[in-house]
Amino acid sequence: MSETQLDVRGMAKPDAYRILGEQLDAVCEGVSDPIAVMATMACILHHGFGHLWTGFYRRIDPMRLIVGPYQGTLGCMEIELGRGVCGTAAMNRRTVIVPDVRLFAGHISCDARSLSEIVVPVFDRQGEVMAVLDIDSAETGAFDDVDKSQLESWVARFAQAGTGHQRMNDRI
Ligand code: SME
Repeated sequence: MSETQLDVRGMAKPDAYRILGEQLDAVCEGVSDPIAVMATMACILHHGFGHLWTGFYRRIDPMRLIVGPYQGTLGCMEIELGRGVCGTAAMNRRTVIVPDVRLFAGHISCDARSLSEIVVPVFDRQGEVMAVLDIDSAETGAFDDVDKSQLESWVARFAQAGTGHQRMNDRI
């Protein structure tokens, strides 16, 4: 199989997410391994939009996230629930949009070029937070409610039968 790396910069966001989502569906058809889906999602979003950092932190115990599949410069290894933007989103089970990271108390900086960020909780079939999707941009105010609703619907696939937490838990 040969897939083109799509670049959707300059398109209206709903169109961009639709086109990238179609590619994700095509590439991940029949794939239930959550790590493979996370890696593919991070790659498609990262290169499609030209983000600074795109990836997952997986929840490895009730209070800890550890870095998962990502694209970009070196991400920090572990984040406690409740700390930083990622830990806040995981703890509160809600998407967090940070238009300017310099104004978010407790923001954990992995790359000084990051100026705005969105973190979306990923739920498993039981409704538990199994990971977060973290995207950083080199521009302020890069993320809005369109990104929130689109990304929430992208990660909803991890709660569906066959792409579940159980398989991930089996190996950690
Ligand atoms: N900024 C995040 C940390 C992860 S990096 O951005 C890759 C946070 O505050 O949780």
